[in-house]
Amino acid sequence: MKVSGKIALVTGAAQGLGKAFAAALLENGAKVLISDVNSETGEVTLKAFQEKYGENNVMFVRADVTSQAQMQAVFHQVRESFGGLDIMSNNAGIVGETSDVWEKTVDINLKGVIRGTNLALDLMRQDKGGRGGVIINTASLAGFTPFPKYEVYAATKHGVIGFSRTWAENPLSAEYGVRVNAICPAMIDTAMLPRGDDDFGKYVEEHGVMSPEYVAEGFMDLIKDDSKNGALLKMTQKSGKVYMEY
Ligand SMILES: NC(=O)c1ccc[n+]([C@@H]2O[C@H](COP(=O)([O-])OP(=O)(O)OC[C@H]3O[C@@H](n4cnc5c(N)ncnc54)[C@H](O)[C@@H]3O)[C@@H](O)[C@H]2O)c1
Repeated sequence: MKVSGKIALVTGAAQGLGKAFAAALLENGAKVLISDVNSETGEVTLKAFQEKYGENNVMFVRADVTSQAQMQAVFHQVRESFGGLDIMSNNAGIVGETSDVWEKTVDINLKGVIRGTNLALDLMRQDKGGRGGVIINTASLAGFTPFPKYEVYAATKHGVIGFSRTWAENPLSAEYGVRVNAICPAMIDTAMLPRGDDDFGKYVEEHGVMSPEYVAEGFMDLIKDDSKNGALLKMTQKSGKVYMEY
């Protein structure tokens, strides 16, 4: 896929990985709608992107991925302002295991990805006048392996992988002209890292953490390579070395 001139939507894009994904898309010549529940940081990111990539190539819309109405409004906005959608990144996510937040973790990390995929397909499917395209769902290495003490998080990420690869196998995926892939990184240097966790501290000391910009390179590969449908890209770092593996 040639990214230049394409239209993209990234959730959880105010900071961290989503911000790096949006920057990579803009760098490659796409127009990008960045969406996030955090409007304060979202507006700061928007301003920085507009200065670097042009005022009319990026917009910010505040939305919570757990709200069907708010997400419908975001998709409406991308169609009205940019004229369609070619690339969808369902990226917003949180870590939260305790009794007061675990359901929110499922609502954002898993149900938010399903909601975003369904709404993106409505806009992108070729049999309904869309242009086709690609959806990249942010999973995690914790979607493949146990992630001790983060059972709910691991369950949501296993769910994202199952959902994404199963969608890709649906014959409708070809009819719609939409590929669905998942990116599955290990620890990334963002605000999400559980920095106060001793076990985690040991892991980071031993293996290090990846930069969001490095993970964005894998993200772009999943977008640009038209042969990738149902692909799961694992990205890891061990003892200072980084690895990409399909
Ligand atoms: N940091 C890591 O080590 C790591 C590793 C693998 C996967 N991931 C995944 O990467 C994705 C991005 O996380 P990050 O590391 O950049 O963390 P982050 O906390 O820096 O960014 C997450 C963003 O999602 C937004 N968000 C949270 N709840 C939302 C909601 N309900 N609606 C809309 N936006 C919401 C936040 O405001 C924030 O801007 C997540 O899905 C996460 O699970 C992170």
